[in-house]
Amino acid sequence: MAEELFLATSTDKAERYKTLVPQIASLVEGKKDPVANLSNVAAALRQALKFFWVGFYLVKDNELVLGPFQGPVACTRIGFGRGVCGTSWKERKVLIVPNVDEFPGHIACNSDSRSEIVLPAFKNGEVVLVLDVDSDALNDFDKTDEVYLGQIIRIVEGFI
Ligand code: SME
Repeated sequence: MAEELFLATSTDKAERYKTLVPQIASLVEGKKDPVANLSNVAAALRQALKFFWVGFYLVKDNELVLGPFQGPVACTRIGFGRGVCGTSWKERKVLIVPNVDEFPGHIACNSDSRSEIVLPAFKNGEVVLVLDVDSDALNDFDKTDEVYLGQIIRIVEGFI
């Protein structure tokens, strides 16, 4: 397929996700290289949802290491249980943080980041990466993001 996204014109977040998710599925379909696929997923998310920062941290040698992302430069390593990403890894669950300044131990890679959502992806029952999405606005993520980003995580789990 031509590597081009059809972007929803709707300003409704759920509509934008609904248009995007099947396109992400076809973007990675039949393609096996995880770095290539994660790169396209991050780029597609940024293009369609205009996130401030979106990317993946991969579990390597008991640390999270920066993987494919779109947005300003970011921290390269995050420890287990550290920051929002490390906590999502440790607790094996989705975290929505409405105000990063109120999250104990938040890692400020970029001082413009105000709220975030982090979702873990699993392989053989272990967290192998997290998807981190940051906003420069407070309280920017909710159940809608959790549901649709969760669908994208399921797609990611198919190729990692
Ligand atoms: N905010 C994250 C660190 C990663 S960056 O924001 C890209 C955290 O506390 O886990």
